[in-house]
Amino acid sequence: MDSSYFTEKLLRWYPHNRRDLPWRDTRDPYIIWLSEIILQQTRVAQGLPYFYEFVNKFPNLAQLAAAPESEILRSWQGLGYYSRARNLHACAREIVHQRNGKFPDRYKDLLTLKGVGPYTAAAIASFAFREPVAVVDGNVYRVLSRYFGISTDIGSHAGKKEFESLANQLIPKSNPDEYNQAIMEFGALQCVPTNPDCLNCPLHPDCFASKRELVHNLPVKEKK
Ligand code: ADE
Repeated sequence: MDSSYFTEKLLRWYPHNRRDLPWRDTRDPYIIWLSEIILQQTRVAQGLPYFYEFVNKFPNLAQLAAAPESEILRSWQGLGYYSRARNLHACAREIVHQRNGKFPDRYKDLLTLKGVGPYTAAAIASFAFREPVAVVDGNVYRVLSRYFGISTDIGSHAGKKEFESLANQLIPKSNPDEYNQAIMEFGALQCVPTNPDCLNCPLHPDCFASKRELVHNLPVKEKK
């Protein structure tokens, strides 16, 4: 497995292809957390206006914590999955009142926040604090399974472990934030679920799935 080649190609692709998204211009964990919670079950285009409204209304953790829950739920209206908004508020209050207002700054500690699972904890840890912990979301499953030819079911426990382990081998210690953004963006824009433009893909010459015409068979997700 030539992982450094894969990583380098991705890092070279990213600056020329990245979308300019507002949460990419900051290392503020509050802003990054907010964006990741909004994007958990929501597309970027739908989430953007909500993100701007939240940053305007509640520019920092203290202001979010001080607001009544009803105001937060009102701002969330239309996004669905309201437990996300309730968790945001509960977390803000907990950090302000029980953790001296200090946002957790390590992957393991981020996992203790309500509504923050492995993906979100890795996103905040890497984007805000540059901790080398890999994000593993649907985009990452797709890119890795196709490029490296991994057909383990991504819905299975074994599959999750395998992809997480590979992703954490690939992440460079020097710029984990850039790498995580790059692989997610690559999955969102280039290695898309259906009809990806493989002939114009920088990873094409070495992509397992592309060489064997298995692009549409990977990743494998068994029906439950
Ligand atoms: N979807 C979830 N997190 C994202 C991010 N940080 N950038 C773009 N899309 C995302």
